[in-house]
Amino acid sequence: MSRIAYVNGRYLRHSEAAVHIEDRGYQFSDGVYEVCGVRDGLLMDEDYHLERLERSLRELRIAMPMAMRSLRHVIREVVRQNDIYDGMVYLQVTRGVAKRDHPFPNPPVRPALVITAKPLSLSKIAQAVAQGVAVVTMPDQRWARRDIKSVSLLANILAKQAAREAGAYEAWLVDQDGFVTEGSSTNAWIVDAEGRVITRPLSADILPGVTRRVLLEAAAREGIEIVERAFTVEEARHAREAFISACTAIITPVVRVDGLAIGNGAPGSVTMRLRAAYDSATQTARR
Ligand code: PDD
Repeated sequence: MSRIAYVNGRYLRHSEAAVHIEDRGYQFSDGVYEVCGVRDGLLMDEDYHLERLERSLRELRIAMPMAMRSLRHVIREVVRQNDIYDGMVYLQVTRGVAKRDHPFPNPPVRPALVITAKPLSLSKIAQAVAQGVAVVTMPDQRWARRDIKSVSLLANILAKQAAREAGAYEAWLVDQDGFVTEGSSTNAWIVDAEGRVITRPLSADILPGVTRRVLLEAAAREGIEIVERAFTVEEARHAREAFISACTAIITPVVRVDGLAIGNGAPGSVTMRLRAAYDSATQTARR
């Protein structure tokens, strides 16, 4: 089956889909994106993802590329045309195509919209969940508005690559005061000796993860205590449990931080309880 991409109003063969060389996303990273999980053919937490998309666009003064209802339709169509059962949808909106010049185009041009979808291997995810993963800490070198889901991911990809070269799965980024902000593409969590779950509060320092949001709701329902506060690298290294969250794998246990085993070096019970709690809290929508 050939993959299909949606590009500015057309469904194209993925191998032939392209955007203009003067797309401002290509030239300036002047755009935002969303990743939404698909499970059993259904979109996961779609409303929260679209809410965050609207917010990211508003913060950058980029117009919505189409009415929300139409956007929901196109997303479903991309999932359907690619026959995605378990996987993810990627959605990108840039300010549009204009002659290269730093200020916003005046008059404004039409925002450019690209939507793609791909299957994900659930067995690979299950393996990472069963074994847990290693993270390494490194300085957070990103810009000051990490709450916007900008396509500008240079510092994120450099951190991820450095982690992989160090034999780790994820990089935990650390602010100037020694506190962990988040992972290069995940939110960061620890469980302390008393069993309290700790994650950094929302601010411009981190992305407001949709999975994070659903986990907070799930924990409240299940009576699992979560403390929203920043934690240090030292605390992380000595935590009882640790994990990362993102919409693609939901929760992945962290069993090593900077080479040191967390707890007994295996996925923790609070982590696994939260992972199960997520399943009861996630909102899926019919195609
Ligand atoms: N990453 N923090 C960062 C920096 C992220 O890039 C992501 C998501 C998250 C988790 O957000 P959510 O729970 O909404 O997926 C946190 C996506 C998956 C990506 O860039 O591919």
